[in-house]
Amino acid sequence: MKIGIVGLGFVGLSLTSVLASKGFDIIAIDVDREKCKKISNGISPFYEPDLEKTLKNGLKKKLQISNDFSLIKNCDLVFVTVGTPQNTSGAIDLSIIKKAVSSIGNNIRDSRKKPIILIKSTVIPGTISDVILPILEKRSNKKAGKDFGLISNPEFLQESTAIKNTKYPHVVVLGGEQTIFMKKVRNFFEKLNPKIPIIITNHQTAEMIKYANNSFLATKISFINQLSNICQKIPGANVDDIARTIGLDPRIGGLFLNAGPGYGGSCLPKDMKALINFANMSGIKPTLLNAVEEVNTKQLEEIICILKEKFTVLDSKRITILGTSFKPDTDDVRDSIAITLIQKLLKLNADIIIHDPRAIENTRKKFREKIKYADSISNSIKNSHCVIIMTQWNEYKKLNNKMINQMKKKLIIDCRRLLIDKNINAEYYAIGIGK
Ligand code: UGA
Repeated sequence: MKIGIVGLGFVGLSLTSVLASKGFDIIAIDVDREKCKKISNGISPFYEPDLEKTLKNGLKKKLQISNDFSLIKNCDLVFVTVGTPQNTSGAIDLSIIKKAVSSIGNNIRDSRKKPIILIKSTVIPGTISDVILPILEKRSNKKAGKDFGLISNPEFLQESTAIKNTKYPHVVVLGGEQTIFMKKVRNFFEKLNPKIPIIITNHQTAEMIKYANNSFLATKISFINQLSNICQKIPGANVDDIARTIGLDPRIGGLFLNAGPGYGGSCLPKDMKALINFANMSGIKPTLLNAVEEVNTKQLEEIICILKEKFTVLDSKRITILGTSFKPDTDDVRDSIAITLIQKLLKLNADIIIHDPRAIENTRKKFREKIKYADSISNSIKNSHCVIIMTQWNEYKKLNNKMINQMKKKLIIDCRRLLIDKNINAEYYAIGIGK
């Protein structure tokens, strides 16, 4: 069996590497020639723990990387893992996926195989039946369900644990008609991930499951962030103890209750906007989803309020931002809350210096010479008026009084409560901790 994977971002490259390292015969395709070249040489275009090791392992087996879509015609299974970014109205932009499935359709036209196409990209309910299926049928001149299979297969992996999540997913969702193609795909996943629940449903439900998942995670984060703001007004209150305790209730669950400066990244903010937009267009007022988003946006204001209270004006005050990646163990700064904070502080004429163990280069691409970049935590806080810990990198727990003594004004805002148990010689604010 030959497997094609179209689109080599986090999802596509993780899937490629894991399946190839297991010995599957893989053709991985991306339009970006340079990216293909790098990957063929065992270099990942982005940082993801264990990815390069798994990729290199796969390259020793049956893995071909190419930008040539015509190779698709030899495949039995084709995973579509291209991005569905956000357009200016908040809806998803389907142009990339439309192009990808057009190319797939063109290339299976003369194939004698009956390939099965699995859509992993996140798409709004109705997209697979109303947009993707007609494109594939038109371009291939074939009939879905008879000449080729079309199955929704949403992805739930998280950046920073992408390889682990690809190897051991918590669930496999398959949406589509109950045809022989569905049977084959079910068998494939049963063998690949024995013991993992497989949910078989229709396209629309599978598409909606993905949005339900991400919007629920966003809701948990905004919930705990709202509570953390309340805790800050209760002397001695500690949001982590509250989260840990309510998390022990099996009806609640302990994950995604880590209070902070708000959720970021390339998925939760985009998917929330897309779902809100879809609900509005369907005539449903998304009251709760709007509130989740509003809490998230306002979370940064808490930090700016403290700064304004302490300095009145931020003109030429040096502010150190520790962590610009949207979460630890990644170099990804897309939709990172730290990036939004920097943009806001630059508007207030603050003098910004940043540190991040992995994301300096991606941050530099955004701000160039508008901010400064430090190669160590210690250098980043020298002469600073305020340090703001944004990302929960373990390194930042090493911040100590020797480093803090080099600050111009000793003010620390700790959005991740990393220094809470330390005897810090500074004015210290921690999100979720009552003063
Ligand atoms: C998210 C989902 O968790 C994945 O299941 C999903 O597959 C993926 O989006 C996607 O749609 O592709 P990811 O974007 O990698 O994964 O990041 P998360 O781990 O969900 O974190 C998102 C943001 O929430 C980060 O800024 C993180 O710092 C924040 N967060 C997360 C918190 O502030 N508190 C928490 O308790 C958890």
